[in-house]
Amino acid sequence: MDLTFVRETWDRVRNHLDKVIVGMKDTKEEVFAALISRGHILMEGPPGIAKTTLAKTFASLLDLEFSRIQFTPDLLPADIIGTKIYNQRTGEFETRLGPIYSNIVLADEINRASPKTQSALLEAMQERQITIEGEIYKIPEPFMVIATQNPIEIEGTYPLPIAQLDRFMFKSYVDYPKRDEYIEILSIHGGVEPEKLEKIIDRDEVLKMNKALDHVTVSKDMMNYIVDIIDTVSNDDRLEWGVSPRAALHLLKASKAYALMNGRDYIAPEDVKRMAYPVLNHRIILSTEALFKGVTSIDIIGESLKKVKVPI
Ligand SMILES: Nc1ncnc2c1ncn2[C@@H]1O[C@H](COP(=O)(O)OP(=O)(O)OP(=O)(O)O)[C@@H](O)[C@H]1O
Ligand SMILES: [Mg+2]
Repeated sequence: MDLTFVRETWDRVRNHLDKVIVGMKDTKEEVFAALISRGHILMEGPPGIAKTTLAKTFASLLDLEFSRIQFTPDLLPADIIGTKIYNQRTGEFETRLGPIYSNIVLADEINRASPKTQSALLEAMQERQITIEGEIYKIPEPFMVIATQNPIEIEGTYPLPIAQLDRFMFKSYVDYPKRDEYIEILSIHGGVEPEKLEKIIDRDEVLKMNKALDHVTVSKDMMNYIVDIIDTVSNDDRLEWGVSPRAALHLLKASKAYALMNGRDYIAPEDVKRMAYPVLNHRIILSTEALFKGVTSIDIIGESLKKVKVPI
């Protein structure tokens, strides 16, 4: 199977994203890697840096069903998954599927909803299905949640429990633009509207990319490399808990996706190194002592990558 088409598709997507969004190179890559590897992504960062705009722009390039859920404190689980509604005319109950039943779901500002509602979202993400009054509805593939949140210190928010953050393949940290990027943002503003972009990828192509992932070769050495990284991070004594096997699986899938985006059909160490940060940063629970000293999960990942021997 020739896998180089993924790289060509990625080039096209990147070109289109660049017309609307300045910078955010890493986040753009991670959103696309999540699409290829059937993962979900959480974008975190301060207000006004185009988290929502990036999600909307990305979705508008895909010829797929898209829905947007604005998370607020009064949002209920049924507002996400759906509910049974009584039809006066027929005298019967009908199922109304909620907005999560879609291909690309923008879950905006997820940390503003109550834990109960958050958990309805996270359950659907994990199971790739919803249950309404005992009936199961499988969400059609492709299915991808792009969530956004402001940093957790902001008032009136409910931080997501770490155990639930684990459902996201990536947490992408978005920072303020650099000076020259600010200038560019001002100059392109009012240019291309995300909704007016042409659709450049259809369902079949996404499914074909998902399949391509299974054809990426992983050598024994690379498998060991991934496990060594997970081990080193987990055994760092500044951590309260280790990272899960799910994290290792996500790192493997993400690395395969990144290899494909770079036109390769095998994983190289650079893929794993690049993906280690966005895949692991939200799964690391630091000890209180480490937090007090100002250690971050990024420090832990960086130091672990330095410690582990890179296969040749
Ligand atoms: N890097 C960027 N490139 C292009 N436009 C940008 C960039 N950063 C911000 N903008 C513009 O700033 C505005 C705010 O963006 P947006 O609403 O997507 O931010 P946000 O990160 O979702 O904010 P919030 O956390 O408040 O929801 C939009 O008009 C967007 O086009
Ligand atoms: Mg927003």
